[in-house]
Amino acid sequence: MIFKTKPADVFKERHNGPTKQQMQDMLSTIGTDSLDTLIDETIPPAIRLKNPLNIPAGLTERDFLRKFSAIAKQNKVFKSYIGLGYHDTIIPPVIQRNILENPGWYTAYTPYQAEIAQGRLEALINYQTMVMDLTGMEIANASLLDEGTAAAEAMAMLHANRKGTRKNAERFFVSNQMLPQTIDVLMSRATPIGIELVIGDHREANLNDETLFGAILQYPAADGEVFDYTSFIAEAHKNDMFVAVAADILSLTLLTSPGEMGADVAVGTTQRFGVPMGFGGPHAGYFATKEAFKRVIPGRIIGQSIDAQGKKAYRMALQTREQHIRREKATSNICTAQVLLAVISGMYATYHGPRRLKYIGLNTHSMAQMLNEQLKGLGFEQLNENFFDTLNIKAENAEMVNAIRKEAEAAQINFRYFGQNQIGISLHQNMDVEEVKEIVEVFAKVAGKKADVSNLAIAEETYISWPEALIRKSEYLTADVFNAHHSEHQILRYMKQLENKDFSLTHGMIPLGSCTMKLNATAEMMPITFPEIAHMHPFAPADQTKGYKQIFSDLESWLCAATGFDAVSLQPNSGAQGEYAGLMVIRAYHEANGDTHRNVALIPSSAHGTNPASAVMAGMKVVIVKCDEKGNIDVADLKAKAEQYKNELSCLMVTYPSTHGVYEESIIEICQIIHENGGRVYMDGANMNAQVGLTSPANIGADVCHLNLHKTFCIPHGGGGPGVGPIGVVKDLAPYLPGHAVVDMGREKAIHAVSAAPWGSASILPISYAYIAMMGGEGLTEATKVAIMNANYIKARLEKYYPVLYVGKNGRCAHEMILDCRAFKKFGVEVEDIAKRLMDYGYHAPTVSFPVAGTLMVEPTESEAKEELDRFCDAMIAIRKEIEEVENGAADQKNNVLKHAPHTAELALSENWDRPYSREKAVYPYEFSRTNKFWPTVSRIDSAYGDRNLICSCTPLEAYNNPEVAQHATGIE
Ligand SMILES: Cc1ncc(COP(=O)(O)O)c(C=O)c1O
Repeated sequence: MIFKTKPADVFKERHNGPTKQQMQDMLSTIGTDSLDTLIDETIPPAIRLKNPLNIPAGLTERDFLRKFSAIAKQNKVFKSYIGLGYHDTIIPPVIQRNILENPGWYTAYTPYQAEIAQGRLEALINYQTMVMDLTGMEIANASLLDEGTAAAEAMAMLHANRKGTRKNAERFFVSNQMLPQTIDVLMSRATPIGIELVIGDHREANLNDETLFGAILQYPAADGEVFDYTSFIAEAHKNDMFVAVAADILSLTLLTSPGEMGADVAVGTTQRFGVPMGFGGPHAGYFATKEAFKRVIPGRIIGQSIDAQGKKAYRMALQTREQHIRREKATSNICTAQVLLAVISGMYATYHGPRRLKYIGLNTHSMAQMLNEQLKGLGFEQLNENFFDTLNIKAENAEMVNAIRKEAEAAQINFRYFGQNQIGISLHQNMDVEEVKEIVEVFAKVAGKKADVSNLAIAEETYISWPEALIRKSEYLTADVFNAHHSEHQILRYMKQLENKDFSLTHGMIPLGSCTMKLNATAEMMPITFPEIAHMHPFAPADQTKGYKQIFSDLESWLCAATGFDAVSLQPNSGAQGEYAGLMVIRAYHEANGDTHRNVALIPSSAHGTNPASAVMAGMKVVIVKCDEKGNIDVADLKAKAEQYKNELSCLMVTYPSTHGVYEESIIEICQIIHENGGRVYMDGANMNAQVGLTSPANIGADVCHLNLHKTFCIPHGGGGPGVGPIGVVKDLAPYLPGHAVVDMGREKAIHAVSAAPWGSASILPISYAYIAMMGGEGLTEATKVAIMNANYIKARLEKYYPVLYVGKNGRCAHEMILDCRAFKKFGVEVEDIAKRLMDYGYHAPTVSFPVAGTLMVEPTESEAKEELDRFCDAMIAIRKEIEEVENGAADQKNNVLKHAPHTAELALSENWDRPYSREKAVYPYEFSRTNKFWPTVSRIDSAYGDRNLICSCTPLEAYNNPEVAQHATGIE
């Protein structure tokens, strides 16, 4: 017999949910005959691409992994002592496997639905507590994008809150011992908001200068010197100035904290707490400050509140500060942050506890002392009087530096080479005495001497030689959680216990509109922990990073193909940061043309909150453009405003397809109007999943756009980050793409860096690389079509029950749709009740009240199979029937199954069940929930209570208030 053969493993068939047969059924439910007809009915012909996407054919998982390993192997993983904010570290294997490599953690979204996110909320509160304790500050947020942006946020916050005699001061003192990349990011952020930086030696700063409103200092300094900033800060305070300190988190296990020195803000990165360097990121930037600033802190803060039963429950606190509510008046544009990395660092501290963390600090310091003695013995001069982990060796001349570099590189070692023939050596956790010996050998060879290293060993006792005032005496990590999970079984069970409280893509669809929660395939995730990807320092010499360079150049060219643009910068590490970067590029372009007065950004009223918030950060004035009753941009209003501001027009920010889920027919005309009036068009690419292969930003007439690689291109959301928000630009904007203070990015007129690392969150770029390589141009295009089909299928099934707001000319939605729930309000049913009730059915709610209050925005993505879409629709239809019971009086308006949702197991099993509906209806509302129940662990959370009674750290264990117990926990035995 003859059998037909076919490839058994085609990746796109794994990525796209519905089978061919299911697609036929779905298309007939939608009322169309084929996928292509549906696409023709949905996307306006004027913006359709004429040619297929120019990206090579897709690879199988096996072929991709082989090919990618070969590329990665072109990176040379040398031992890195470069430091400068990036240090080798050990991620405990139990954390690597159970968090970093575990979809239960990495596929969750930002905890908008707190009742099914208590696990990561608790992990984040641990992280905040860890940061507060180590920095000695009163409140911390749940992460920022990196150390550089955290420093820039500190500057912006202090500027916005200037006081007393410095109320109108516009200058900010920056120590010349800040990390160079931090200074670069500060430069980028200062100018547009009218701040002038004064860069100098803090010992010579004139704090009586009335033009200064604040200062920022590095601790330890970039060259490794440890300064006591207490008197500087006191002097600054006398002058109504604020001081921020960028502090190395590990050093704070031994050094007096910034809080104890009086700092107003402490910033930094928690990278060296268990997160691989990853060629620059992603890592969690931290931000901690005083209580007085709690209502103006940038980014997300997790706080404790209570649920409907009065039980302790966590949720995001003080959200009214944030961009999604305050828009152009927000304290920052942060949306996606670095949750997964914050969780890892917080868990690293939980696993080690205060005692072992202190040992890590002490061992690092001991090795630095040992190396210092050895190098001095060889006749080398070391310039740092007090150091924690970094030596500053002064070579006699440039020839000697070259000789050391040559020897070091031959031994596969990287140092930092800087200043006047100086060599920086930063020691770290992932080394021991053997590595110290290797370093000594390098210097001995150059000095032509024999080093006696045979007896080198970490001494049983170490002497800290820096001044008494800088020796940390205060306790840290005294809360119960940091003193309870030190064996592997304990930490494993604790992590699992938290993971089990969270709804992620491992449980079911997360249909969050505008968030594109598609599959994050395992094969895409595997490369991020390849040593050649994970263990690279971002400032390693170029000849060691050829693998990364190839990954960047392939990825950039594929993203150019997908967007139709000429150049891409991979530097921004979130969508919002991409917006800021893109707007800064437009700003630089106008400035280069002498149009410095062009500072008006037109933004439609339906835009995401990050758009106006980013525009303000880029120094622009926001002018809102109306939308019509169909949700489209009101072209007449746009035209009028573009003409009114034609002399000041900088740009339009437009999301496409619109946040209302439609392909606006007038987009080409809209872009033309902006161009005719001298502006540029910035396209927010959050909805790029509805474009790839079918249309493109360049095709609709945009000049710049960001892509959320953590949406369209499969980087998982990590429970609220990491993200990557590269920007693509047309040719004449390419020279302005972001540069970097340490690494030459090869752009003539580059703007200052927007992220600390040259290629932002480089180590997760392989995820998008893998997705594109395995889907190929054809697969990517098919994914877009299926995403549109899945959305239209849900629309077809649900529109009888929930009116769908806004559709295109032929009645089709794009890749998402808005379900109108406002009519239920008159029976007392709020959209939030539906969102919470969905949890009882085993679903994560769609996006609530964005972009229209009182609605749900549903985005299923291409990755969901028909069965999953049907279950979701069944749940929504069943909920509609429950609403009907309230509507027709069968259920009480206040005391009903929707108002009390979600229902916990504890509640359902309680002795005193007094609800007017059965326990069964509460927790097993439909058949599927009997076999696949997801139990929320708390009931409805009272957010207002938590904001009134703000608690943002772990409640300390009583026992640790006892000084004796505390000493046992943190003291050196
Ligand atoms: C339309 C839109 N723009 C911008 C953003 C911001 O992107 P990010 O969260 O990556 O900063 C989002 C995030 O959901 C969005 O939906």
